[in-house]
Amino acid sequence: MNNRVKTEVPAEVMQEQEKYTQLARMRIAEIYYGRIPKYHVHSYGCQLNVSDGEKLKGQLEAMGYQQTQSVEDADFVIYNTCAVRENAEDRALGNLGALKNQKRRRPSMLIAICGCMTQQQHIADKIKKSFPFVDIVFGTHSMYRLPEMVWSRLNGGARVFDTSADDKDIVEGLPVSRDSDFKAWLPVMYGCDNFCSYCIVPYVRGRERSRRPEEVVAEARKIVESGYKEIMLLGQNVNSYGVGLEEKINFSELLRRIDAIEGDYRIRFMTSHPKDCTHELIDTIADSKHICHHIHLPVQCGSDRILKLMNRKYDVAKYLELISYARERMPDVTLTSDIIVGFPGETYEDFLQTLELLKTVRFNALYTFIYSKREGTVAAKMEDPVPYEDKSRWFRELLAVQEEIADSYYKSMVGKRVRVLPEELGKNEGTITGRDDGNIIVNIKAPESMIGSFVEVDVDTAYNWAVGGTIAAE
Ligand code: SAH
Ligand code: SF4
Ligand code: F3S
Repeated sequence: MNNRVKTEVPAEVMQEQEKYTQLARMRIAEIYYGRIPKYHVHSYGCQLNVSDGEKLKGQLEAMGYQQTQSVEDADFVIYNTCAVRENAEDRALGNLGALKNQKRRRPSMLIAICGCMTQQQHIADKIKKSFPFVDIVFGTHSMYRLPEMVWSRLNGGARVFDTSADDKDIVEGLPVSRDSDFKAWLPVMYGCDNFCSYCIVPYVRGRERSRRPEEVVAEARKIVESGYKEIMLLGQNVNSYGVGLEEKINFSELLRRIDAIEGDYRIRFMTSHPKDCTHELIDTIADSKHICHHIHLPVQCGSDRILKLMNRKYDVAKYLELISYARERMPDVTLTSDIIVGFPGETYEDFLQTLELLKTVRFNALYTFIYSKREGTVAAKMEDPVPYEDKSRWFRELLAVQEEIADSYYKSMVGKRVRVLPEELGKNEGTITGRDDGNIIVNIKAPESMIGSFVEVDVDTAYNWAVGGTIAAE
């Protein structure tokens, strides 16, 4: 599978889309004569999808649209969907259905749905049949053809369906409209080859392919030079970065090259798969200047039997070895994980092993999910005898254990000084909130003007899922 040629979409094809952008721009100026039309893009799901959403926004702005946060005001609404769990799909289809009346009131508006959900044939078919007011349906591999799709539809063309499964090429050079001016997403690779038995991502995102290191480093440099304070490197499994590239390079080497860029910024990355997380990676983080001492290393579950059924390709012993090496090299490291409760065939005894693991590792934060059956995956065919109510009960049990662990960690932070990048206004008046280098949420009594630059904070309070503090005097 990995010896297929992975290339980039040729420059001529990108130039053709550039031509469509200009044509669409003229058509749009004609249709909305005298005013600037508005778009609303909403991305569900993971950061990779949010990052794709920023490229959709970039393309729409190049066509002459301007962003609005309100769906009701929008002349063009795009829902960029996620398929990872059933509730993500339900939410997107619910929101899509709600647009029907708006379109009736304003027939000139455009509605598009894209992303991981539409990459599944049964969903594309369902939208075609049951959502006739949707103008454009496109998949994760067709995003760069948006200008052509818009142009065609605005010129009276038929509804557009472009959910090709062609995942061979990487797209470089799309315009990006970033949501933040201090935090930037930077995808280093696309797709996933791991086929964890429960997961839909490899089916909807296609095969793993890495961006060339020159492209990644050049984009990182541009981001730092533009004054961004945080770069988040993205991939479904960043630890297999480099496979299939002409140059022999791994993720640690890529990190070192980015870290060498001078400037006042920090680097984060996700997601690391434990099966190919190495001591070299941990050493690279420990020895770096800019990489946060935080590792998101999803373990999913603490039972070797279930890990095997999940096709995760590591066992608890290997996972614990990585954790202890990371702590040995970086005593200040923070660790986070994803956990799935109620995988098909998981027993209460298996679940208790997950609780054991949580108590051993003492994660700083967890992202927890109840197993959701995804059609087409291997796990979807497995016996799943445990009722949902039981899984919910286990889930609450798990949350209680984790709450205690997190709570004691937050209490231990009181009295410490941490570096925070404030991102937004806090819930209480006169506060702002952001994350420290360990990815812990910190509420700060400080003015709005401090959002977007690093501040040193003295932690004085532990809350339930965060800490609070004030700007350090000196
Ligand atoms: N590539 C990342 C995860 C991407 S999906 C990794 O391997 O770590 C994010 C998380 O969603 C997964 O880590 C998993 O915990 C959860 N997830 C994926 N498929 C799921 C399913 N079918 N049901 C419940 N949770 C799921
Ligand atoms: Fe899904 Fe596993 Fe790939 Fe993560 S590594 S995206 S969980 S198949
Ligand atoms: Fe969802 Fe697609 Fe991300 S399925 S989690 S948006 S890769």
